[in-house]
Amino acid sequence: MTAELFTPYQVKDVKLKNRIVMSPMCMYSCEEEDGIVTDWHLAHYTSRAVGQVGLIMIEATAVTPEGRITSRDLGIWNDEHVEGLQKLVNQVKAHGSKTAIQLAHAGRKATVDGTIYAPSAIAFDDESKTPAEMTKEDIERTIEAFKEGAKRSKQAGFDIIEIHGAHGYLIHQFLSPLSNKRTDEYGGSAENRYRFLQQTINSVKEVWDGPLFVRVSATDYAEGGLTIDDHVTFAKWMKEQGVDLIDVSSGALVHAKINVYPGYQVPFAEKIKHEANIDTGAVGLITSGLQAEEILQSKRADLIFVARELLRDPYWPRTAAKELNTTIEAPVQYERGW
Ligand code: FNR
Repeated sequence: MTAELFTPYQVKDVKLKNRIVMSPMCMYSCEEEDGIVTDWHLAHYTSRAVGQVGLIMIEATAVTPEGRITSRDLGIWNDEHVEGLQKLVNQVKAHGSKTAIQLAHAGRKATVDGTIYAPSAIAFDDESKTPAEMTKEDIERTIEAFKEGAKRSKQAGFDIIEIHGAHGYLIHQFLSPLSNKRTDEYGGSAENRYRFLQQTINSVKEVWDGPLFVRVSATDYAEGGLTIDDHVTFAKWMKEQGVDLIDVSSGALVHAKINVYPGYQVPFAEKIKHEANIDTGAVGLITSGLQAEEILQSKRADLIFVARELLRDPYWPRTAAKELNTTIEAPVQYERGW
C-alpha cells in the first residue's frame, strides 16, 4: 500500500511533496510590537521543514496594526515586514517545504490599544472592547490592506496565500448573522454577509495569481449562527471566484460548548469537499498517521493540517511514516540516523 499521506499534492504551479500541512499557529513572539520576524520564528518554522512537513503555513499575520490579535503578532502592513518574511521563506524552502502565509484581521477580537473595528458595534464578550462599526471607508481601506498584504507576500516569495476567514475574526464576523447586524449591502442576506469576503478575494487576486486557500469556521455551534449548510453555499461561491482549497475549521465566533473528539471537524471538510466540489483541508485533533491516512483514502479531504501534534513532535511526518510502514526521505545531514 502506498500511503496517500506521502503522495504529492499539486495546486496550480505548486507541488507539495506530501499532504502534511503545518497548521497556522500564532507564536506571539515579535519583540517590539513591530510585527517583524524574529529568531524564534526562524527556528520554529525551519525545524518543521527539517521534519519533512510538505507545507509550512505561517501563523495569522496582520494586514493592519489594529487587526492584530495581540501587539506581538506578526504583521504585513508595512514594506519593512518583507525582509524578515523573505528570510523565513528562504530558510524553510532550503529544506524542501513549500510555504504559505495566513493573512488575517482580528476585527472585534483585537486586543491592541486604540480603536478596534468590526461589521457591527458588538463586543466579543464582557471582557472585550466594543468595536467601532466599520464605515464604507473602513471597509475599503481594510480590503485594500489585504491586497497590499498579498503583494508583500508575493515579494517575500510565499508559494500559497491563505485568507483567514475563521475563528471569529473579522471576515467571519461579516459572514455570521450573530456578529453582523448591518443594514447596508454588507449585512442581511447571505450574499450581503459574504460581500466582504468576496471583495477581499477579488482584491487579493488582482495582485496574486498563485494558489489561494481560505480558512473557515464551518459552524458557529450557536442558535442563529452559521451552519455547515451555509458554508457549503459560501464554498461554492469561493470556488466560482477561483479559490483553490477550503481549510475547514469551526467555532470561536461566540463562546459555545463544543464536543471535541479526534477528527471532530473532518465531517465538515468532507461535506464541503463533496457538496461544493472543491478541495478541502481537514484539521483538528488529527494526531496519528493512520487517522490521517483514513481521511485521505476515504476522500474526506485533500490535505491534513496538523497543529499541536507538530508542536510536540517537529518530526511528525517521520513518526506518521513509521506508523504507515513507509520510509520517507531524510535531510541529508540525518541520513545516518533517520
Ligand atoms: C492555533 N490555531 C490557529 N488557527 C489559525 O487559523 N490561525 C492561527 O494563527 C492560529 N493560532 C494558533 C496558535 C496555537 C498555539 C494553537 C494551538 C492553535 C488553531 C490551529 O491552527 C488548529 O486549527 C487547531 O489547533 C486544531 O488543530 P490541532 O491542534 O488539534 O492539530
